[in-house]
Amino acid sequence: MSKKVIRWGIVATGGIAEKFAAACRFESARTGNSELYAVASRSMQKAAAFAQAWGIPHSHGSYKALFSDPAIDAVYIATPHNLHAELSIQALKAGKAVLCEKPVSIVAADFYPVIETARKEGRFFMEAMWMKFNPAVNKALSWVHEGILGPLTYLRSDFFLHAPYDSTSRLFDPALGGGALLDVGIYPVTAAILFAGKKRPAHIDAFLDKDEAGVDRYNRMHFTFDSGLKADLSSAITLHGIDQLRSLVVLGETGAAVLPLFWMAQQALLLSPTGETLETFDSPFPCNGYEYEIREVERCLAQGLLESPVQTWDDSIMVMEILDQIRQK
Ligand SMILES: NC(=O)c1ccc[n+]([C@@H]2O[C@H](COP(=O)([O-])OP(=O)(O)OC[C@H]3O[C@@H](n4cnc5c(N)ncnc54)[C@H](OP(=O)(O)O)[C@@H]3O)[C@@H](O)[C@H]2O)c1
Repeated sequence: MSKKVIRWGIVATGGIAEKFAAACRFESARTGNSELYAVASRSMQKAAAFAQAWGIPHSHGSYKALFSDPAIDAVYIATPHNLHAELSIQALKAGKAVLCEKPVSIVAADFYPVIETARKEGRFFMEAMWMKFNPAVNKALSWVHEGILGPLTYLRSDFFLHAPYDSTSRLFDPALGGGALLDVGIYPVTAAILFAGKKRPAHIDAFLDKDEAGVDRYNRMHFTFDSGLKADLSSAITLHGIDQLRSLVVLGETGAAVLPLFWMAQQALLLSPTGETLETFDSPFPCNGYEYEIREVERCLAQGLLESPVQTWDDSIMVMEILDQIRQK
């Protein structure tokens, strides 16, 4: 029996679409399980230029046209956040499997219909939370699960980046879901939940520093879990992203784990409680790190799954609901 190749359609032509195209092309050459088949843009010209740059055989001048192409099995949605939920629903209704960039919606209420549609249509849906498939992150998690760190007491994670102010950029435009929390704060929040054993915090404190347009430039969160674990988290889009403010530290009673650049980690460190390095796990990306989420979609589709057991629908919903709670604070 010949193997089923996943024909991908990329929706939008921005920065992350380029990264995905590179990873998909890499995987396509490596295993042949995926094929970069089509790209869509709001502009036919942009779609054609992207297609040419990445050797993609088909281009569409609208997202709808891509969804109605019957040859496409799976779509990768790479627009600003505000369009993710609606486009996911359209794609699922057109019979496509969907890998959707984070966050799937601006508020949790807009997320639920996406899952209802995936369930009703019997189609695969996954939020592209690529950190969950990262080998270094999973190594650190395995140290926790094996009890090497002992009961967890404290977690700290920050994700700072410094974007030049531009009122038209999706990062600063409230209509496009701008702000640090939804763009980068989602990673420290997801990491805290992951290391806490996919548990909801029992208590959340939060502070958001907003600009005149109502977009949060900097935020700080404190979570307390029933286990006793406490987490200090922060993110920013207007503060310099030095590496010390882009890491994850998990402290337990008998050890600690450190993930430099945790959301795109290529190294995990196991430390003693007094800070000596006991183990260094290096895991350079074969391509750019996005190949791992593509492999997960391939694996799930080959098994006929509707959701990934690693990044489940409930995982995404829980984080989205917590992001809602943070903003309510
Ligand atoms: N997983 C990750 O590591 C990662 C990294 C960066 C971003 N992201 C996520 O990916 C999404 C896109 O981010 P990006 O950095 O690629 O953004 P970007 O460079 O601004 O690109 C967004 C693309 O969306 C399309 N688009 C549709 N409506 C738009 C509108 N009203 N304004 C601007 N663009 C519009 C445009 O493509 P067309 O004009 O071709 O239609 C545009 O090129 C975001 O939700 C973000 O959270 C994820």
